[in-house]
Amino acid sequence: LDPTLLSDLQATLRDVPDFPKPGIVFKDITPMLADPRLFGRVVNAMSAPFRGQHITKVVGVESRGFLLGAPIALALEAGFVPARKPGKLPHKCIVERYSLEYGADGVEMHEDAILKDERVLVVDDVLATGGTADATGRLVSRLGGQIVGYSFLITLDFLEGAKRLGPDKVTSVLRF
Ligand code: PRP
Ligand code: MG
Repeated sequence: LDPTLLSDLQATLRDVPDFPKPGIVFKDITPMLADPRLFGRVVNAMSAPFRGQHITKVVGVESRGFLLGAPIALALEAGFVPARKPGKLPHKCIVERYSLEYGADGVEMHEDAILKDERVLVVDDVLATGGTADATGRLVSRLGGQIVGYSFLITLDFLEGAKRLGPDKVTSVLRF
C-alpha cells in the first residue's frame, strides 16, 4: 500500500539514548510530525486497518497519543476522546492506575466520553509494556464501550505489551 513508509519512518524518527532516564532509548516522533506528507501517510497507515469497522470513538492517550489520535479520528469519521493524566480533565472522571516502563501513573476519562456499546479504537504512539493502553482499555470497558482495537505507530516487541492487550486487537506500523 505504501511500500516506502517503513524506510522513510526509520530514516526520520530519532533515537534519543538515555531519555527520560538512563537505559531508555526514546523514540522521538517530532521529525515525523514536522513533515506533513509523512505525517499524513502515518495517519493513513494507522487508520487503514479500521476503515469500515464502524469505529464511533477514537481514544488518544496523553500526550503523544493526542497527536495521532485526533487526525485518525477525523480520518475514520469518528469522535475523538482524550484519555488524560490525573487531574487534567474538567468534568467528572473515572480513573485507572498502571505501572510504566519508567515509573507509575494513572489515566482518566470523562465518565460520559463513551456511550454503552460504542465501537472504540485506542491510539498511542508507542506500545511498550502495555500498561498505559491496558488501563485506557479498562476505562473504555467500564463505560460500556467495545474495544475494536489498538493502533500504535511503534511497538517495542521485547516488552510484550501486545500479549497483555490481546495480540489480535493490536496493530502497529513499526516494530522493534
Ligand atoms: C509513553 C508512550 C506511551 C507509553 C507506553 O508515554 O507515549 O503512552 O509510554 O508505555 P507502556 O506501554 O509501558 O505503558 P509517557 O507516559 O512517557 O507520556 P507522554 O506520551 O506524555 O510522553
Ligand atoms: Mg504516552
